[in-house]
Amino acid sequence: MAMEKKTLRTGIVGSGFAARFHFENLKRVFGVNVEVVGTYAIDTAMAESYAKERGIKAFGSLGELIEAVDVVHVCTPPSAHEEVAVAALKADRSVVCEKPLTGYFGDGTESFHGDRFPKQVALDAALASIDRILAAEAASRGILCYAENWVYAPSVQREREIIEKTGAQVLWIHGEEAHSGSHAATYAFWKFSGGGTMIGKGCHPLTAALYLKRAEGEARNGKPIRPAAVCARAHAITRLPAFQDAGHIRCNYHDIDDFAMMHVEFEDGTAATVFASDIILGGIHNWLEVAANNHHTFCHINPNSSMQVYNPKRERFADIYTVEKIETKEGWTAMSPDEDWTTGYPQEMEAFYRCFASGGRPESDSRLAADTISTIYSAYVSSERKGAAVEVRTF
Ligand SMILES: NC(=O)c1ccc[n+]([C@@H]2O[C@H](COP(=O)([O-])OP(=O)(O)OC[C@H]3O[C@@H](n4cnc5c(N)ncnc54)[C@H](O)[C@@H]3O)[C@@H](O)[C@H]2O)c1
Repeated sequence: MAMEKKTLRTGIVGSGFAARFHFENLKRVFGVNVEVVGTYAIDTAMAESYAKERGIKAFGSLGELIEAVDVVHVCTPPSAHEEVAVAALKADRSVVCEKPLTGYFGDGTESFHGDRFPKQVALDAALASIDRILAAEAASRGILCYAENWVYAPSVQREREIIEKTGAQVLWIHGEEAHSGSHAATYAFWKFSGGGTMIGKGCHPLTAALYLKRAEGEARNGKPIRPAAVCARAHAITRLPAFQDAGHIRCNYHDIDDFAMMHVEFEDGTAATVFASDIILGGIHNWLEVAANNHHTFCHINPNSSMQVYNPKRERFADIYTVEKIETKEGWTAMSPDEDWTTGYPQEMEAFYRCFASGGRPESDSRLAADTISTIYSAYVSSERKGAAVEVRTF
């Protein structure tokens, strides 16, 4: 006899870019019936129009939304992640939290500026925030799933399979997330984003690298291989007085970095080098290279070569979506047949809802998120010391 599918009620906090792709990909969950009840956002006009378009409710407060649902999606700027996630967990709701899990968002003063404060302060505050979130999860009947889509990108999952089945030793991981600038207005300010591209984009390839090293260790002897130290540099290239704006790269950031390099040393002595930037033209550029003792892999998350389209006339593609953040639709485009799928969005939603329904733990859990945030703020400390190695606390 077929098992009845469980129905779970969902609320989405935030009604912007991430809230849109969460809604779309929740429609693709097939193991559980997901009923998206409504949204709540601080920008009430935004929440109203998001809700109207989708035939769902716009809640008047976070508390009312939490009361009405089983699962809370955190799609706000990073500065509100802890507050929303902890409120949901305290009410025994499960959480899907967007990246980055949490961070340091300034001291609340008008004069706060991301370039001018000791980065150890950020590291200490971020670790304290992580401790509060993990404590709220430990005391809750709900769990926190970390919406790091790179973990669920099909190419990264195939790489995990190769590592596990061949007993591979991963010697070096090399990855990058880059494009020509985040669209979110709040992203320009450290007080909302918790930092620049090192956290906003670097978190993606970094979490994938931490995940694969964790999987390698667990396959070999049941023990994850954790990050031990990090060396990093961060730059604000579009804020340089010498930067010449040709009109293609976003360059109105207030106090954040737009280019970053993190070099992580794991506890077994192997390494991962991650680049993140907001200065790359040609559409979103997300890839991970794995150099192992028995194989060598490139995961081309975006762009990839599954579909190549040549369009001689830009106007003809006016209402055709091609690739995230591409500047032009003229000429050759690596147009993904299903960009959400190669990015891992439907797979992460499916995996999370199966965990909520069955009581399992997700591959991308709160501890993987915690190690990511700890590594990134240690990287900001390293960058302040011009790249000196800084030890990483793991969770
Ligand atoms: N995984 C990915 O590929 C991906 C892509 C884009 C964004 N993100 C993440 O999603 C999150 C949201 O980013 P976005 O691009 O959707 O931003 P956005 O600016 O488009 O939307 C943010 C929404 O949050 C609301 N909001 C702000 N503060 C709030 C608060 N305290 N309480 C309730 N609502 C609040 C705003 O009103 C707005 O509706 C960020 O953490 C970002 O890093 C992830």
